Amino acid sequence: MTITIKSAADIEGMRVAGRLTSEVLDMLAEHVKPGVTTNELDKLAHDLIVYEQKAIPAPLNYAPPGHKPYPKSICTSINHQVCHGIPNDKPLKNGDIVNLDITVIKDGWHGDSSRMFIVGEGSIAAKRLCQLTYEAMWKGIMQVHAGARLGDIGHAIQTFAENNGLSVVREFCGHGIGHGFHEEPQVLHYGRPGTLEELKAGMTITIEPMLNAGRREIKEGPDGWAIVTKDRSLSAQWEHTVLVTETGYEVLTLSAGTPAPPAFVNA
Ligand code: MF3
Ligand code: CO
Ligand code: CO
Repeated sequence: MTITIKSAADIEGMRVAGRLTSEVLDMLAEHVKPGVTTNELDKLAHDLIVYEQKAIPAPLNYAPPGHKPYPKSICTSINHQVCHGIPNDKPLKNGDIVNLDITVIKDGWHGDSSRMFIVGEGSIAAKRLCQLTYEAMWKGIMQVHAGARLGDIGHAIQTFAENNGLSVVREFCGHGIGHGFHEEPQVLHYGRPGTLEELKAGMTITIEPMLNAGRREIKEGPDGWAIVTKDRSLSAQWEHTVLVTETGYEVLTLSAGTPAPPAFVNA
C-alpha cells in the first residue's frame, strides 16, 4: 500500500484543481436542458478547461489496463447508466437524470467531482433517488477524520442507502487522488465499521457512491466504457474530492455553485 500524504503546498495545488473542477460543473449546470446533446456539454467543458482554465481534462484518452482510451473530456451517465457514459449526439429529454463527472488536472494535481442533474421536470422517483444519493455521499464525507477507517465511510453510505430501499453498486469505488487520477486506497461505498485502512491527515480521497433504485447488479454496455444497471433501473451518483484533516475533512471540489450540504451535516 502506498497512500500519499499531501504537504501544505500539495494541498494548495489540490484546492485549485478542485475549484476548477467544480467551476466546470457550475458552467454546465446552465446548459442542461431538454434538447442539448451530451456532445455539446462535452465541448463546452473541454473548451473551458483547455482554453480558459489552461488545464487538462483527465478523462480524454485515459486508458487504464483493459480499456481502450476514453474518447471524450467528461462522463455523461443518463438514467440507467451507472457511470462512464460517453457523450454522444442524442439530445437530452424532459425527465432524464444525468450525472456529469468532471476531472481536471491543473499543475499536475487532479480534482474529481460529479453532480446529478434533472432535465426539465423529473419524476418523484427520479428526484428522490438523486436527493438520497447526495445525502449518502455526505453520510460518507461526515465519517472522514484522522483515525477513522475506510470501512466507516462504506458502512455509513451502505446503511443509509439500504434503509431507504436503494442498492449500492459494488464494482466501482472512490479512490485516492493527487498527482494520479486513481491512487490508492480504494474507497468502497459499503462495508463494516472499524475495518480497512486508517485515514491519516493529508490523505486526499474521493467519495462517489453509485446508488440504484432497483438491484445492485450492473453490466458493461457495448461501447466498452458505459456501465448500466442489469435491471435497467435508474442509477445516480455524486462525487467530491475530500482532504482528511486531524479533526475532520475539507471538501476540495468547491466553487460558487457547489450545492449546499444537507441540513443534517451541520445539525
Ligand atoms: N471520473 C471517474 C471517477 O470518478 C473516472 C472516469 S474514467 C473515464 O473516478 F475514463 F471514464 F473518464
Ligand atoms: Co473519482
Ligand atoms: Co469522477
